[in-house]
Amino acid sequence: MNDNRLIIISYRLPFSFKTENRVTSVKASAGGLVTAVKSLDLPPSAPKPVWVGCADFSQRVWEKHKHLVNDDFEYVPVFLDKTTNKGFYNGFANSVLWPLFHYFPAYIDYHDDYLTAYKAANQAVCDKVVELLQPDDLVWVHDYHFLPLPMLIRQSQPSATIGFFLHIPFPSYELLRLLPGKCRSYLLNGLLGANLVGFHTTDYRVHFLQSVRLSLGFSHRLGTIVTPQTKVQTGTFPIGINYSLFHDASADEEVVQERLDLKRSYPDKIIFSVDRLDYTKGVMQRLDALEVLLKQHPDWIEKLVFILVVVPSRDQIQTYWERKQMIEQAVGRINGQFGTLTWLPIVYRYSDVTFSQLVALYTACDIALITPVRDGMNLVAKEFVASRQDQQGVLILSELTGAANELGEALLVNPLDEYEVADRLLYALTMPPDEQRQRMITMQARISGYDVRQWANDFIDALLTTQQADQTGQAV
Ligand code: F6P
Repeated sequence: MNDNRLIIISYRLPFSFKTENRVTSVKASAGGLVTAVKSLDLPPSAPKPVWVGCADFSQRVWEKHKHLVNDDFEYVPVFLDKTTNKGFYNGFANSVLWPLFHYFPAYIDYHDDYLTAYKAANQAVCDKVVELLQPDDLVWVHDYHFLPLPMLIRQSQPSATIGFFLHIPFPSYELLRLLPGKCRSYLLNGLLGANLVGFHTTDYRVHFLQSVRLSLGFSHRLGTIVTPQTKVQTGTFPIGINYSLFHDASADEEVVQERLDLKRSYPDKIIFSVDRLDYTKGVMQRLDALEVLLKQHPDWIEKLVFILVVVPSRDQIQTYWERKQMIEQAVGRINGQFGTLTWLPIVYRYSDVTFSQLVALYTACDIALITPVRDGMNLVAKEFVASRQDQQGVLILSELTGAANELGEALLVNPLDEYEVADRLLYALTMPPDEQRQRMITMQARISGYDVRQWANDFIDALLTTQQADQTGQAV
């Protein structure tokens, strides 16, 4: 990495404000994207990076309290009006692109005014970036909220160096073609404004390259697309986690205490899962699998507990709050069916958990049951593996996650097949400690070798290479 200034763009800023008893404080935002960007390893001589994002607070709150946000970044919030933000975030981003890119076409709720809001929000963010942009800056755009942004910036600043990273899957063309042709071309053309477009897996990258060829007619050579106006390189950069943070935390005093409390409260086998509330996470299918297990193997009744944590998310959107109701009904049904007067199979929590609670759960459990029906990467699986200093615990992981490419020693399952998941649960419940250790050691070696810092640095280095090649007129 060199001394160019970095301009980062993501929907969320890594903080928001919270006022309690008339006292305002800064609340850090969680999420893989935020953690990843914060782990950038910038040389001490590099100028302060600028982070542009959509504010979930008012301009008045920002002016009054911005002095409270004081770290290694300079923050530039973009204030969208309520209607635009709703149509942009709840509408086009999360009711059209999210279900489409995660292979849930039936959940797409397409309206032209959502697209209008999406375009307006991208334009507002573009205007802000262009206002800030200086020669030699590197622009790094994140995620599906901003697919058109690279081209918008390019049109105004033709020589800008722009990278784009997609944090969710890029679907096969068969899915993408469900979008109206004009909308599809607008989104794909938007990405072609970048010098580098990055994905978690080679499959997602291939889907993008195929979509550009079939939709826009531009083919690629070794992953580089050349159009009359631009040259766009693509790359695979599987995002990692802050490995040492999770690995070391398992020995923290607070975590040790919370783990002891958990083990005391739940002396039997603990199965654990944690996800944002989302239909992509496969929670219903996971509950079905538990039900199958308890039906087929009643000897496990009163000998295990499933701790199911669902973190509130996007609950203004119908498909999300409906999912919450479905989960809660299923939990009630299974607990009613198998519970006894002194035992319940499922402990359900709908709330955020603190970092120490999370690591305590990762390290107290016997099985992490991570079974999304589609997930760009899934960092929970990597965090669980990193936390296990004891090299014990079994990971059951959906083969439909990006993480499955790197975690082949997990018990890989098709999350839609509740019989297979139940069967793997049974296997995991009795897996000998030696086998657990062997699998864990291999997975830990792999993910500690490519952590989030390495990921961010690799992306920026690749972006710099495209910039240098452009400056010297070489082919990339
Ligand atoms: O995985 C994609 C992503 O946008 C992450 O960047 C983010 O942490 C997560 O989904 C949650 O999304 P939201 O910002 O909508 O709460």
